[in-house]
Amino acid sequence: MEEQVFSFKMKVYNGQEIPEEYISLVNTAVAFKQIAYAPYSNFLVGAAVLTEAGNIVGGANQENASYPLCMCGERVALYHCAMAHPSEKVVAVAISVKSPSTEVLSPVMPCGACRQVIQEYENRFGSSIKIIIVTDDEKVWIIDTIKDILPLGFDERFL
Ligand code: THU
Repeated sequence: MEEQVFSFKMKVYNGQEIPEEYISLVNTAVAFKQIAYAPYSNFLVGAAVLTEAGNIVGGANQENASYPLCMCGERVALYHCAMAHPSEKVVAVAISVKSPSTEVLSPVMPCGACRQVIQEYENRFGSSIKIIIVTDDEKVWIIDTIKDILPLGFDERFL
């Protein structure tokens, strides 16, 4: 028997220290959560996608009275970006949430479905995507690649 260990690093920045290249991206995610459509959960999720060419595209969660049809903010932003800038490599996704019940002081991670979709864009463009998460204390948490939080994921190699 052999044990394999999978671990990853997260960088944590205080508000002022956030890398310059991500400031507009983070501000877009924070702003977009205000236009989330989330009347059922009241859990607001803003997301923003940065492309290699420097374009930034935002998204926010879109809910539906038929609950399973709700769409996460991350996927709204990624698909919006894929339509607006189809050939541009995605380099980072920022996420900002507002919870109706609690102050968010630890990073709220993208759900499993969104991790799978982010992985698809990493594979499509052949390079890693930074996941940047903002918390209510204005800290910014950065993960280097979706593979860190979706290890051993399912992908096209098996098709
Ligand atoms: N949600 C997101 O937008 N992103 C996630 O990664 C997790 C959940 C949304 C879906 C739904 O509108 C609300 O948050 C509560 O689940």
